[in-house]
Amino acid sequence: MLKKINFTVNGKTESMEIDVGETLLEILRERLHLTGVKKGCAVGECGACTVLIDGTPTNSCIYLAVWADGREIVTVEGIAKGGVLSKLQKAFIAEGAIQCGYCTPGFVVTGTAMVESGKHYSREEVKQELAGHLCRCTGYQNIIRAVMKALKQ
Ligand code: FES
Ligand code: FES
Repeated sequence: MLKKINFTVNGKTESMEIDVGETLLEILRERLHLTGVKKGCAVGECGACTVLIDGTPTNSCIYLAVWADGREIVTVEGIAKGGVLSKLQKAFIAEGAIQCGYCTPGFVVTGTAMVESGKHYSREEVKQELAGHLCRCTGYQNIIRAVMKALKQ
């Protein structure tokens, strides 16, 4: 069954007809070519596909595209503004928190929500917030350092 949806992606209004069985991940990657959104496990376990939906980090692989109707989506492509990396993205580079980079978009999206929340996080709380993200290169220490650095700035 087809349904028309309207939503905002990285500040741009999108309108399209989708099959009700399609996931948001499929729409973002295959129709809008936002390939920074990665497909890992496809069952909500690894966090590679994380995007912000109305400001909340969400696994787009288990989120139906029809649910995005009327919502505001931000992908990793929408984090840098005017070609300038965010302080979190700069911290990832400074701390060497990127190896193969497959998990990085998901960590950056969740980390951005943490930074933008303005809340204070202890190291333990940072680890808990990032627990839904798997890094196959096991670069967790550098990733946690990068997020802590951006939170302190
Ligand atoms: S691809 Fe979505 S959680 Fe792994
Ligand atoms: S940097 Fe390779 S999976 Fe995390």
